[in-house]
Amino acid sequence: MFTSLQGRSAIVTGGSKGIGRGIATTLATAGVNVLVTARSQTELDATVSDLSGQPGRVSGLRADVTNPEDCRRAVETVVEQNGGLDIVCANAGIFPSGKLEELTPEDIDQVLAVNFKGTVFIVQAALSALAASGHGRVIVTSSITGPITGYPGWSHYGASKAAQLGFLRTAAMELAAKQITINAVLPGNIITEGLIEMGQEYMDQMAAAIPAGRLGSVADIGHAALFFATDEAGYITGQTLVVDGGQILPESNQALAEA
Ligand SMILES: NC(=O)c1ccc[n+]([C@@H]2O[C@H](COP(=O)([O-])OP(=O)(O)OC[C@H]3O[C@@H](n4cnc5c(N)ncnc54)[C@H](OP(=O)(O)O)[C@@H]3O)[C@@H](O)[C@H]2O)c1
Repeated sequence: MFTSLQGRSAIVTGGSKGIGRGIATTLATAGVNVLVTARSQTELDATVSDLSGQPGRVSGLRADVTNPEDCRRAVETVVEQNGGLDIVCANAGIFPSGKLEELTPEDIDQVLAVNFKGTVFIVQAALSALAASGHGRVIVTSSITGPITGYPGWSHYGASKAAQLGFLRTAAMELAAKQITINAVLPGNIITEGLIEMGQEYMDQMAAAIPAGRLGSVADIGHAALFFATDEAGYITGQTLVVDGGQILPESNQALAEA
């Protein structure tokens, strides 16, 4: 039995859609008061309204993770609203596709700015509030793409997702004495607005490559994040948890076919 998280306070970046919204839903269902951040006010409003019936209070704030000032404002807002900050879910991310020979310096900068630097900025902004909590938790949404697998068109994206893990391992050491843990969830292919934009053909071929026989749900990721947020996970830091229905396991197409 896990200790209740009722009344804890969280930020979920990129919480207006997809995986972030799934994490926010899982936390709010567990009684955590959640501030979701994103750039689109319309989508933030829709998410806040949809999650209004949960045990945890959900609010929204426009904030761009590429801007350290926005990250500081998000932390100030959540501390003001909820009286502190216990959990940071560094989830905001983008995954534009581009083959190596076509990638511009701007394409690379943009992906690293949101996925990697955005993760660092929100964690930096939250450090003193997390230390004050006495049981601070950082949960990073990385990916199997980059840290474990490759996919043509995503060299820059894969690098940004691996960069999050390089950051996490040293950050875990720096934060341990403050009783703050930092861990990452590595999703496989999860049905989100972002994934749906890749098209039905992409989704069908990915589902066929997953031993579990289905794409993941945002709740699958939400539950993994919730585990890292618990008091009982307090001795786990600097670690990664793959949540992919077994997608990274087959050694070959034949191995998958024989399963
Ligand atoms: N879906 C998958 O299969 C999958 C697999 C592995 C890893 N992931 C990772 O999961 C995370 C979420 O992906 P998703 O599929 O849920 O994507 P999504 O449906 O496109 O949602 C992305 C969220 O991030 C926000 N966002 C984007 N750029 C931002 C910025 N500069 N500042 C603040 N918020 C920003 C978006 O809102 P605005 O656009 O309004 O800002 C939105 O709330 C990403 O880190 C991604 O790399 C996804």
